[in-house]
Formats: sequence, structure tokens, C-alpha cells
Amino acid sequence: MKTLVVVGTQWGDEGKGKITDYLAQRADVVVRYQGGNNAGHTIVFNGNKYALHLIPSGIFNPNITNIMANGMVINVKALMEEFDKLKLDKFNLYISDRAHVVMPYHIDLDKAKEKVLKKPVGTTHKGIGPTYTDKAARIGIRIGDLINPEILKERLTETLKFKNLELKSYGLPPYSVEELYEEYLEYGKRIKPHVTDTSVLLNKLINENKKVLFEGAQGSLLCLDHGTYPFVTSSSPTAASVPINTGIAPWLIDASVGVTKAYSTRVGGGAFPTEIDNEIGNYIREKGHEYGTTTGRPRRVGYLDLMVLKHAKRVGGLKYLAVTLLDVLSGVKDLKVCIGYRLDEKEIDYIPSNIKDYERVKPIYKKMENWDEDITNVRSYEELPNATKKYLEFIEEFLDVEILIFSIGPDRKQTVMRKDIF
Ligand code: GDP
Ligand code: IMO
Ligand code: MG
Repeated sequence: MKTLVVVGTQWGDEGKGKITDYLAQRADVVVRYQGGNNAGHTIVFNGNKYALHLIPSGIFNPNITNIMANGMVINVKALMEEFDKLKLDKFNLYISDRAHVVMPYHIDLDKAKEKVLKKPVGTTHKGIGPTYTDKAARIGIRIGDLINPEILKERLTETLKFKNLELKSYGLPPYSVEELYEEYLEYGKRIKPHVTDTSVLLNKLINENKKVLFEGAQGSLLCLDHGTYPFVTSSSPTAASVPINTGIAPWLIDASVGVTKAYSTRVGGGAFPTEIDNEIGNYIREKGHEYGTTTGRPRRVGYLDLMVLKHAKRVGGLKYLAVTLLDVLSGVKDLKVCIGYRLDEKEIDYIPSNIKDYERVKPIYKKMENWDEDITNVRSYEELPNATKKYLEFIEEFLDVEILIFSIGPDRKQTVMRKDIF
């Protein structure tokens, strides 16, 4: 297998960074294809912990070509700060000239919109929604514009006409072309050596038979089209979005591995049928360090919801699963998984599109055998307690998806891949 998508199957933070980093040991190329620094991907190896927000998870290996593709929205200032923090000597990174730039007014507008909403989305305040909005409205600034002074001035002049009107409507101060022009031209100079047509580059690398990993951000239930709208992000994280977001043909994708926690979490607003609001939830939150990598917010915790995974499989396709944070479930006494919903008197086996209905559904649980053993030192499937094996087998059978990887701790070494497919 040469091209593999690592995709979140829940509401983000499933451990995509960890799984991408693990698989990247076998890869030549790692591509981030959507989202921006709303993402926070944690990687732990050799006793060090890193949080990546924009930079692809292959960056620590100078032999890997890392690509930030056209589907991303990039805060260039944050990108430079992320690089400064990592202090890397050697790395290999390309940024798409077609990716859109998150500008300071996008962040102002993101925060302002949240304040007006009766039920805020609970965004990361990184300006993601407003940047994608401008992309669709054809008034966005692209990475390529930053390295072309004439185009940058023209684009800023056009877009600020609209943005300043919008800022004014929220009672916020306007931006001048001059202040942004100088600052962003300077960023353009700094990133210029990395900027290219990444579709051309990626197609060339695939033609050369290189092994390519696509690193999803967010998760399928945060998908703009297939997620729990309006409590979603503003891009599609699904494997199905990879071709458009990177500029390759759909048939060049060999498979996808859906990353899921052994339970569920969600940050921000929106329905969460299996949410646990008791001491079990607190136990999982503390044991799993369930606090946001990007915002530090406590994550809402819940039981594993197989309706969510089934939905992720249908809308994006999942050839394999990677189950993470399995170690956190050791010692959870009342262990169960959701296998359906009850909507009023009716049993349903799908996620309703109507948000009011989704808020009302009650999970139907299957009780699972619990285990107490510490599994953080397990290094093969055979070593797992019987109850843990049964837990994984139930997931596999219910979804008809093979569990390729399971993870029993944050470290790269605490990962077991059961089959050599990539
Ligand atoms: P991502 O956004 O999908 O990359 O996930 P995050 O990095 O935001 O959140 C996942 C968190 O779980 C991070 O703190 C990881 O270090 C941690 N993690 C990943 N896999 C495991 C695991 O198997 N066990 C434990 N205990 N922690 C894990
Ligand atoms: P990673 O890649 C978890 C959530 C926010 C909010 C909604 C919209 O680390 O899994 P946005 O700022 O994108 O407009 O916020 O989406 N969200 C995430 N939740 N992990 C993420 O990324 C997220 N990126 C956005 O909390 O509910
Ligand atoms: Mg995260």
C-alpha cells in the first residue's frame, strides 16, 4: 500500500498525530490537507512531547517530505512561531501556493461571531470559519499572494472593503491596507523558499512510487458537510476530501485508517449522546489528560459510540481502524458501548441531520466486560487481557472494519500494528 489517509472518526483529538508519527516511520511523504491551527496533534518519542498545530507530523524526520496542501488555511505568523519553538536543524517542508491565509481580521470576526450566537459553536478562536468563508466568497488571500507584492496589494484592497464593513458592524476597528501589506509581505519573504504548487509535487512523488500519508485534522463528526452541523468546523476532514484538498485523482488513494479513541470526547458545543457526567467521566478525563492541546479546555468525555464510527465509515470510508487510549479504560467498572439510539419511541441506527433530534436521542448501550490490568507495557495483541480483546473484537465485528493498530500510551513505542500493510 502506497497512499494511506489517517482520519479522525469522532470529534477530533483521537490521536491522529500519534498514529501519523508512528506510521511516518515507514513513509516518504506526510501531507496535511485541511484545517489550520485549530488542530493540536501531540507526538511523544524519546522522552519528548511535541504539540503540532500546522506543521505535518513527519517534520522530525528530515528524509520525509512534508506538505501543507491547498485545502489548508494557514496563519503564517503562527506557523513561524511553531517553527521557532521546535528549533529544528534540518527539515523538509513545502507549502501550497493555493492554501488560504488566516488574517488577523479573521480571528477578530471568529471571536465576535461566537459572542453573538445564542448557542456558540465553541470554536478555537483561530479564525478558521471566517477564512474558509472568504475562500468561498472569493475574497481570500492565498499563500501565493504573499510572495507577489502587486497581487497582495490588489487583493488586500479588495477584501478589506468587505472586511472593514463587517468589522464595523461588530463595533470592531478596521484594518488598513498599508499595515497588513508590509507585515504580510515580510512573512511572504520568509516562507518563499517553501512555497510551491504542491499538487504538481505530490503527483510527481506518487508517480515515483513514494509512500504517502495524509494526516487529517479534526474528525468526521466535525465535517462541514457530514458532521453535527452547525457544531462543526469549516472544512471536511474525511478521506473523501483528500483529492480536492491536495490536487490528486481520487483513485490514487489506496486506503484510510480511521483513528478512534476507545471512548469518546468532544470539545466545544453540540450534542454528545454518550456524554458521561459523573465520576467515571472525571476518572477518564484525568487519566487520559483530556484537556485541549490547542485551547487547554477540559474535553467532554463519553462512552464509545459505534453510531458515530458507523457514520464516519459511511461518509468517508474506513478500511482500517486505529484504537487509541485503550489503556485509559483499565479500571473503568461500568464499561459499555453505544450500539444504537432511541429517538422518542423509535430505535434508530443513524445520526439524524436535525440537530434538535440529535440532542434528544438516548443511547442504547451494550454492557462490556471490564478489566483492571495496566496494559501500558503490552507490546502484542496476545498480551492483552481477554476482556480487552473482547472489547476490540466487538468493535471490529459491529463495524466490519479491521483494527490495524491499537495504542496503549502516548509514547510512539506504546503502539501495536497488527499487520504490515504500509
Ligand atoms: P489529535 O488531535 O487527534 O492528534 O489528538 P491530540 O494530540 O489532540 O489528543 C490525543 C491525546 O492523547 C494526546 O495527549 C496524546 O499524547 C494522547 N494519546 C494518544 N494515544 C494515547 C494512548 O494510547 N494512551 C494515552 N494514555 N494517551 C494517548
Ligand atoms: P484536532 O486536529 C477537537 C472543534 C472546536 C469547535 C468546532 C469548530 O486536534 O483533532 P473551529 O475553530 O474549527 O471553527 O471550531 O470544532 N475543533 C476541534 N476539536 N480537535 C480539533 O482538532 C478541533 N478543531 C476544531 O472545538 O467545537
Ligand atoms: Mg488535537
